[in-house]
Amino acid sequence: MTPSAAEYVRAVDLLRAGELVAFPTETVYGLGADAANPAAVAKIFAAKGRPADHPLIVHLAGHDAVDHWAEQVPPVAWELMEAFWPGPLTLILKKQAWVPDAVTGGQDTVGLRVPGHPVALELLRRFAASGGHGGIAAPSANRFGRISPTSAAHVQEELGDRVPLILDGGSCTVGIESTIVDCSRGEAVVLRPGHISPAHLEAVLGCRPNIETAAGAPRVSGSLAAHYAPQTPMRLIASERLLDFLNAQRHKGDACGVISHSLPPHAGMPHIWHMLPADPVGYAHELYAALRDMDHAGMSLITVEALPDDPAWAAVADRLRRAVAGAGPG
Ligand code: TXA
Ligand code: MG
Repeated sequence: MTPSAAEYVRAVDLLRAGELVAFPTETVYGLGADAANPAAVAKIFAAKGRPADHPLIVHLAGHDAVDHWAEQVPPVAWELMEAFWPGPLTLILKKQAWVPDAVTGGQDTVGLRVPGHPVALELLRRFAASGGHGGIAAPSANRFGRISPTSAAHVQEELGDRVPLILDGGSCTVGIESTIVDCSRGEAVVLRPGHISPAHLEAVLGCRPNIETAAGAPRVSGSLAAHYAPQTPMRLIASERLLDFLNAQRHKGDACGVISHSLPPHAGMPHIWHMLPADPVGYAHELYAALRDMDHAGMSLITVEALPDDPAWAAVADRLRRAVAGAGPG
């Protein structure tokens, strides 16, 4: 699944002309625009239906572009870049004065990431080589508050009529959004959990990073309590209660979908049952596609087997909690 040379050329032409291009990353698909062009960035907010004060992540082709966008970059940030870029890690840094408010939501910081996906990197390299500032601002390519897309078909479904080009890079390997670490205050603080866990960060930093992912000011849009949400109501049910719960639903005549990781599908039970891998990495890879499937199937309820209470599951548990908070009424 690789775009042709002609598609890359068209993508760069569109970006240079201030238009949007959706592209794959290893986490989720992004809805990209020239980060140095405020009018282009405004089109992202319009297409997503997203409040314009939410800052966007700027994607770069490599570390060497960081100083152009950020200043006073502390040693911890360079250590993290060295260890995890290209990869699913976003760093919040003090921005250079020229970086447009449209990208930073008027803050004095900017989020930067070098994605670990060959299509994203090829696009970023070609865009940087075309002149200009080389940064592509991109939030996840979904309507505001909805499930992030992990395939080109998902982007088509979310924004098909609003984006002139979707580069197809297959399905995203990680499947949930990048870990966000704020380094703008000199030390590393985790703002959004992700595939790169506090334990991974600790292995590089030599100490446990602080974690500030709780509710509060929505500097990180993913930190709104309701986010990543399907339209079907959703409930988390403990493993040992799941079968009883589903039986009761069946007696009420409700068709509910099930997402489990330890309980295999039961014959005669709800007709959509996704058993996801029982490890957090495999689970994250499949979660959003499973939720999207259930939404399409017109179930009255999505029942999710509660996750193990273990730090390794923290990022997935975070997305599930927000999906439950934001799912449709009922
Ligand atoms: O994996 C990802 O991060 C994906 C792919 C496309 O790179 N992008 C993504 O973007 O998830 P988005 O906009 O859905 O979430 C990025 C988060 C936002 O919640 C935004 O508020 C936060 O990054 N962010 C960006 N710049 C920030 C800043 N200066 N301070 C605090 N948060 C920031
Ligand atoms: Mg998003």
